Amino acid sequence: MRKIIVMFGPPGIGKGTIGAILSKERKTPLISVGDLLRDGVKNQSDTGKKAENYMKKGELVPDSLVFELLTERISKDDTDNGFIIDGFPRNEQQAVMLENVFINEDTIFVLNLEGSDNVIIERLSNRRICEKCGAIYHLINIPPKKEGICDICGGNLIQRVDDTPQVIKKRLNVFKNDTKPVLDFYKKKGWLYSIFAEGKVPETLKQIYEIIY
Ligand code: AP5
Repeated sequence: MRKIIVMFGPPGIGKGTIGAILSKERKTPLISVGDLLRDGVKNQSDTGKKAENYMKKGELVPDSLVFELLTERISKDDTDNGFIIDGFPRNEQQAVMLENVFINEDTIFVLNLEGSDNVIIERLSNRRICEKCGAIYHLINIPPKKEGICDICGGNLIQRVDDTPQVIKKRLNVFKNDTKPVLDFYKKKGWLYSIFAEGKVPETLKQIYEIIY
């Protein structure tokens, strides 16, 4: 039986941070669509070139591009015992697509991380990521041991191009208009769990453990 965890929630609420911890603990791959796209942009793959402009503006990348990336990633052997998915689905078409990946024996948890816009804006403004391995830091709450350097791989910490006030505002609007309606779909299925995610990481994790274990 596979356990599939869908990290759902607005930009900057902590999906990637919590997803990475769960992935390490459960020895289950974390599939971050945002990271897959950013890798494509970095390597200037065909998909990356097509996605770059949408991402810079905080808009959703066209479904066809994202489907292709995701299908390829999910087909790898390491997902046989389940996986954690971050940043997907973002609209109803994507929710339908994900449905096709599930099998009857799967147990699905859609973890809806909730928090206010103020918390999100604060988190995104102080976020830094490793340009080499993608590890996520926060200048105040989760700082690296050495300023500007990744604890894990020694890479440089940078600010994401979409973490500017204008693009954050756009991403929040896209979430409210396109992504949030998907919650109804999951509520009807009985897979939806709400998590209060404004607290410290252990507080968020505690609520999740009560659901998934
Ligand atoms: P994506 O990379 O998925 O970005 P996002 O959804 O906007 O989410 P973020 O990565 O910004 O935030 P997060 O919730 O993971 O927060 P994090 O853990 O980093 O997508 C980027 C773009 O790619 C999209 O805009 C779109 O263009 C495209 N895209 C992606 N998926 C797509 C799809 N399916 N379809 C179409 N287009 C797609 O945490 C944020 C900060 O807070 C960090 O600094 C962290 O250290 C800190 N923090 C986290 N938790 C806590 C805590 N509990 N306490 C204190 N600080 C915390």
